[in-house]
Amino acid sequence: MGKHGLVVRISAAASALVLGVSGCGSESANPDSPSPPALAGVGPITLVTGKDFSGNLQHQLDEWNGQHPDQPVQLIELPENADAQRQQMVQNAQTRSDAYTVLNLDVVWTAEFAANQWVVQLPEAEFPLGSLVPATVDTARYFKRLYAVPMNSDGGLLYYRKDLLDAAGLTAPKTWSEMSADCAKVLPANPGVSCYAGQFEKYEGLTVNFAEAVHSAGGSVVGEDGKPTVNTEAARRGLSFLVDGVRTGEIPQKARTFKEEESRRAFQAGELLFQRQWPYQYAKAQATDGSSAVAGKFGVATLPGLSGPGVSSLGGHNLAVSAFAKNKRSGLELIKFLTGEQQQRANLEKTSQAPSWASLYDEPALVARFPYLTELKKSILGAKRRPAVVKYQEVSVAIQEAAYGAMSGTTGVDQALATLQGKLDALTR
Ligand code: GLC
Repeated sequence: MGKHGLVVRISAAASALVLGVSGCGSESANPDSPSPPALAGVGPITLVTGKDFSGNLQHQLDEWNGQHPDQPVQLIELPENADAQRQQMVQNAQTRSDAYTVLNLDVVWTAEFAANQWVVQLPEAEFPLGSLVPATVDTARYFKRLYAVPMNSDGGLLYYRKDLLDAAGLTAPKTWSEMSADCAKVLPANPGVSCYAGQFEKYEGLTVNFAEAVHSAGGSVVGEDGKPTVNTEAARRGLSFLVDGVRTGEIPQKARTFKEEESRRAFQAGELLFQRQWPYQYAKAQATDGSSAVAGKFGVATLPGLSGPGVSSLGGHNLAVSAFAKNKRSGLELIKFLTGEQQQRANLEKTSQAPSWASLYDEPALVARFPYLTELKKSILGAKRRPAVVKYQEVSVAIQEAAYGAMSGTTGVDQALATLQGKLDALTR
């Protein structure tokens, strides 16, 4: 682990405390950050990423290859599971391999990759950071310095079956108890439809869903002072939302095997009334080629919470240049290409992934075509970061074990949270 392994940065506010910087200062060039050495090396490169759910990334790279025949990029796709993606990227870095040039890093991995110097500092003056959503740029910094550039943001949304709610005279629920009441009304007449699911397999997605439940009950996973706060009444209520859901059957048993794609398939097959999911699903669930049974029948809303609207975890991915790559300059140019306005716009139009360009969320023509953009913007602006620590993976695994044990009924909620508090205390001390 790097020398900053014990430093914790949680939210924008907390990082401002730790670093003595303004949380919103990231959109302009950073005077405190010495410019990194110029990146050299022009020629063939690779882009390594988790499984591309959208199917559009290869098209984007084909376009780059057409324009840059001397610097062709090859796409390397890793598994769907975020933890498995990280493991392969870490192993590649530990062997100092040149196999990966540009890394599509989950927003939660920046600290680890930067502290270990597996990715290089980027020259921020070369990027239009001021045009990007500030919170996404914050996730790409480590100790004020820029190590990556936002490729896509992500915010959790509540997908709901508008057709079934309309038929019962209902609108999208704002709280967990309204959601339960809606299920009690709608489900008896709709056999084969379950109330709610998210991503509850034991992996990063469960950490996302746990953090959302805790924040949506008014709690936090780690406080603004960097100290873990899961041994609280709010955290208990948050975890109980998930645990009680499984116990009562509102969350179907099989949802404990759901990652993003399993839950998408269930929603698209018409098996869920409500579902927590990222924006990429919108375009897929609206497809009219027969692959979705719910095209034209669903809506998206803010996640529900304990006593009002809930809070999303901030997701997304940032592009970084491997410290061990030969053709770093070409890698940097590819990052400019993929994070530039033209590709961000084209990708939004084709895939419904959350762009990193702020203005795209407000453009009237786009909002008219993609009505979910308004909800998505709210979700991202209100989203909370997961802990920005070098030992993030250990933090996440501790959360996954606590949440999975409690949702499987092998550990009580109080015991799971007490154990988690102890582990997080040790990891963030
Ligand atoms: C999405 C998010 C990412 C998150 C992952 C969890 O890919 O963008 O931030 O960690 O889902 O499965």
